[in-house]
Amino acid sequence: MNEVLIRGRVLTFLTEPQGIDDAASYRYIEDGAVFVRDGKIVEVGLYGDILKLAGADIRIKDHRPNLILPGFIDTHLHFPQTQAIASYGAQLLEWLNTYIFVEEQKFARAAHAAEVADRFMDELLSNGTTTAVAYCSVHPESVDAYFTAAEARGMCMIGGKVMMDRNAPDALRDTAQQGYDETKRLIEKWHGRGRAHYAISPRFAITSTPEQMEMSRVLVAEHPDCYVQTHLSENRDEIAFATSLYPEAKDYTDIYARYGLLNNRMLLGHCIHMSEREVSVLAETGALGVFCPTSNLFLGSGLFNAARFDELGARWSVATDVGAGTSFSMLETMDEAYKVLHLQGQRLTPFNSFYRMTRGNALALGLERQIGSLQAGADADIVMLDSSAKSAMEFRMRTATSLAEELFILQTMGDDRCITEVYVAGKAMKTKNKKPGAVAR
Ligand code: GUN
Ligand code: ZN
Repeated sequence: MNEVLIRGRVLTFLTEPQGIDDAASYRYIEDGAVFVRDGKIVEVGLYGDILKLAGADIRIKDHRPNLILPGFIDTHLHFPQTQAIASYGAQLLEWLNTYIFVEEQKFARAAHAAEVADRFMDELLSNGTTTAVAYCSVHPESVDAYFTAAEARGMCMIGGKVMMDRNAPDALRDTAQQGYDETKRLIEKWHGRGRAHYAISPRFAITSTPEQMEMSRVLVAEHPDCYVQTHLSENRDEIAFATSLYPEAKDYTDIYARYGLLNNRMLLGHCIHMSEREVSVLAETGALGVFCPTSNLFLGSGLFNAARFDELGARWSVATDVGAGTSFSMLETMDEAYKVLHLQGQRLTPFNSFYRMTRGNALALGLERQIGSLQAGADADIVMLDSSAKSAMEFRMRTATSLAEELFILQTMGDDRCITEVYVAGKAMKTKNKKPGAVAR
């Protein structure tokens, strides 16, 4: 039996916070502890109570005065774009053609895919992200590299091979049949193995023919427990192109609806330029809009309207969208999310931000019993946060008088330097200042 007691200021969410300090929505324990056994949380509570439960000779990891939260969850990013972040000066379609479709061709080499997958997982962990939903490249080897790197670290990860059979370079195209066959094989190999979950991944309507969309429909019907991911309404030129390729569809959302892809395991990246009808369709089907603020600002795509999703009862999650997204940090992501919503006269409270990064995104994925909360029975994916990690933060923190204020400082000024430790299934990964590639395979 492997047991550890993690001590610090514990914060975990119970429900979505309403308003600036909805104290009933979270549990905060100033002198708290999390008791972990064999990768799972046994109990969470006051340090004194948990110590009694665990016994006097329990191994203690004392993280005071740092905060202890559930590991962060990122619901949309691209692992083959790890080395293409910060590619200058283009909007979506030009950016894809100029940089991304060149970069992704490198993943035909399994050794390259393996090297990037290791760096990718380490970047996530050093930013406190313990679960993510990622696109791999069109090459099945990239999916093997992705899940192998996740498995080596014990991480709960979701991902899948991109399918694209048109409007991409020859070297990045599959065919409808090949996309189906390779996806099927990868699902059999990885879905449900350890903590791996597969996401069926037609890239977007522009790069899939109707035949490939039809194959996606079959894959989704045959594997209802897999996730599905694609992109929707990110950029006006993209929308015009996509709808011209599917003239029978009412709008962009209807393209995916017609192929039976909208369900509560469907993640739709961006969803910026949406009509009321389209958001209502997401609400009816349970499909998820994924808000990627750093990416939307970086590519000049537009502003995600969260209030409209809420009004119409549609679900939304938050994500980095690396490599159009400019940071692996969910703290920096929520900083930009706050600003994007602020520009539209909307408010994202500090408690709501931290809820979104943790329990909110877990609920979005239907994984709320396993991840996103510090609760008995959950997987011990845990992050430690130092609100004074940078000198400017330390100076600002001297005037902070509430937990809400501290969280807002963390989100507004924080980054990977605030992540002092991260546990994956109870194992300390000690990512801070860790040299690349140091994880044993
Ligand atoms: N739409 C289709 N592919 C992509 C991608 O890789 N990144 C972004 N931001 N949008 C996309
Ligand atoms: Zn994306």
